[in-house]
Amino acid sequence: MLRLRGLTKRFGGLVAVNEVSLEVREGEIFAVIGPNGAGKSTLLNLICGLLRPDAGSLEFQGRDLTQAPPEVRAWHGLGRAFQIVQPFPEMSVRENLLVGALFGKPRTPMSKAKKVVEEVLELTGLAPKAETPAHELTLLEDKRLELARALCTQPRLLLLDEVMAGLRPAEAMEAVELIRKIRASGVTVLFIEHLMPVVRALADRVVVMDYGQVIAQGVYDEVAANPRVREAYLGRSA
Ligand SMILES: Nc1ncnc2c1ncn2[C@@H]1O[C@H](COP(=O)(O)OP(=O)(O)OP(=O)(O)O)[C@@H](O)[C@H]1O
Ligand SMILES: [Mg+2]
Repeated sequence: MLRLRGLTKRFGGLVAVNEVSLEVREGEIFAVIGPNGAGKSTLLNLICGLLRPDAGSLEFQGRDLTQAPPEVRAWHGLGRAFQIVQPFPEMSVRENLLVGALFGKPRTPMSKAKKVVEEVLELTGLAPKAETPAHELTLLEDKRLELARALCTQPRLLLLDEVMAGLRPAEAMEAVELIRKIRASGVTVLFIEHLMPVVRALADRVVVMDYGQVIAQGVYDEVAANPRVREAYLGRSA
């Protein structure tokens, strides 16, 4: 579904993402892990188009989108949820989602957008909060709203950057259930996560980054047993 070849991003002398090649298969849940500063968020920004690579290519569903701006990627089905949630605070949950549904794809009719919003409210468990202004939500509900907003753009591949950050363990496990439901609804998921129990519970495959490079990939147990991965994590306070 997604193929990265030799993707590279430099910030001055720092190579934040260094010749990363990987493939995400349709229908899987794919995790990107690695110590602080490894280049995970930069990689996600390259995938959603907030950053352009210095080298390499990106193909999504057979289309070369290496130079495509973020909105074009979104139209083709690349959806993104952010760690810092920024809803319109005075608008209700339903209104916030309607904005996502109307503008995620070009020329979405209001009737279609409303239908998508109702489906996403059900899927994410936000239906009881539909009329609540966004500023009255709890942190967990905020995270659900951010996921829901991304889903309203009708992604084929959903990109998540540490969406569980700040959640208590029980809340994180609720979020795990939600991400499973999202995948069951037909959406492929690529997520960055620091919480190893979450990675273990969710990921079909894991890629490990360190200093901008992919140092290991495979199923969780393989990767967790890899000496290079253990060294990357033990050597620093990540
Ligand atoms: N816009 C930028 N300008 C300059 N340097 C940057 C920029 N964005 C990231 N970096 C640097 O690139 C490297 C990779 O950063 P990135 O945020 O991708 O890491 P990360 O793996 O997401 O880390 P974390 O786990 O802390 O979120 C870091 O050294 C960071 O300081
Ligand atoms: Mg990051």
